[in-house]
Amino acid sequence: MYSLDVGKYSIEIGDLLDSSFEKLLSQYSSSKKVIIVDGNTNKYCLHHLIKKFKSLNKAKIVVLPEGENNKQITSSISVWESLTEYGIGRHDLIINLGGGVVTDMGGFIACSFKRGCDFINIPTSLLGMVDASIGGKTGVNLGKFKNQIGFFSNPKAVFIDTIFLDTLPESEIYSGLAEMMKYGLIYNKEIFNRVVKQYDDFRNIDQILLKDCVEVKKNIVNKDFFESGLRKILNFGHTIGHVIEGYYNTTLNLSHGHSIAIGMLMESSFSVDYSSLSKDDYKIIKKVITSNYEMPYFSNQAINDMVQMLENDKKNKEGKILTCLLREIGYCNYDFEISKKEFMEKFKSYKIS
Ligand SMILES: NC(=O)c1ccc[n+]([C@@H]2O[C@H](COP(=O)([O-])OP(=O)(O)OC[C@H]3O[C@@H](n4cnc5c(N)ncnc54)[C@H](O)[C@@H]3O)[C@@H](O)[C@H]2O)c1
Repeated sequence: MYSLDVGKYSIEIGDLLDSSFEKLLSQYSSSKKVIIVDGNTNKYCLHHLIKKFKSLNKAKIVVLPEGENNKQITSSISVWESLTEYGIGRHDLIINLGGGVVTDMGGFIACSFKRGCDFINIPTSLLGMVDASIGGKTGVNLGKFKNQIGFFSNPKAVFIDTIFLDTLPESEIYSGLAEMMKYGLIYNKEIFNRVVKQYDDFRNIDQILLKDCVEVKKNIVNKDFFESGLRKILNFGHTIGHVIEGYYNTTLNLSHGHSIAIGMLMESSFSVDYSSLSKDDYKIIKKVITSNYEMPYFSNQAINDMVQMLENDKKNKEGKILTCLLREIGYCNYDFEISKKEFMEKFKSYKIS
């Protein structure tokens, strides 16, 4: 069992039965409990929890429709209505059991309901384990615009048990590996090299590597919770990745990590143009990404629309589009200004005919 202290809460990695989850639940013995799941985690993950922790037998189960398309305020409204119907109050407990959509939206629902209920995250996707469930960002999308509405708000604790990965589809494992690769690219070349090897054995995620990735995020977030400086490097690949994810959401349905991988490839290319990433490092990154993630076809219309969407990126300041670029593998800087024209040209240079 690995335990990482993130200031006000802890992240525990290992078998849930060996964790402090039960002890934490006992602090809510007289409270009502709600478990938020989506269709898949209801089917594949909920029984693990209920079977192991008898005090959850009476918990109310709220099932969200699965998928990024449903990470919208409209889905949240029906959950707030259910919480009201169940008489949930501020001293009750919400447990988010799912991937990043459930922990982002469940966290948002919890911290806005009656001005804030306690919540615990139990991530069930690899991406949720290494990224979405930790760091205190909660929120929902606004139409095609990612995470436009939300709060910074910490859970009471995060429990990461890789047993849940057994039922996770292969494409979703690859989605999580992309975010793990990001930690290596922005912070630690040795982690990058280990993640590259993990692609060859993606069904057996190395727990120590997982813990090291979580620790990278923890270290960055502890230094800059509200993202006024250093935390921005966690957005490497996300300026482009988010518009790809938002644009193709209803058509290609690319996973979050897949979109971010394509974003990291294109932002690595910008890193050669405007920072000091060497062409050799770029070639290494390109090989890993293109051999594991398919490039979408960018039509002229798609490029125009995605470049327009960049105007709404949350990192923008005074109308400027700001992004993060690599200095080398393992080191990232933030606040590089890139024009819409340059983005347009970059998208065109990756256009597959
Ligand atoms: N808050 C943050 O800091 C942060 C960071 C990164 C990503 N995110 C957000 O996370 C979301 C992506 O998360 P995700 O990739 O986990 O997506 P997701 O929650 O949609 O999960 C991916 C798919 O896997 C299914 N699933 C999850 N666990 C399963 C399991 N154990 N067995 C079988 N199926 C399972 C889900 O139902 C879904 O179909 C995006 O909305 C992204 O914006 C947030």
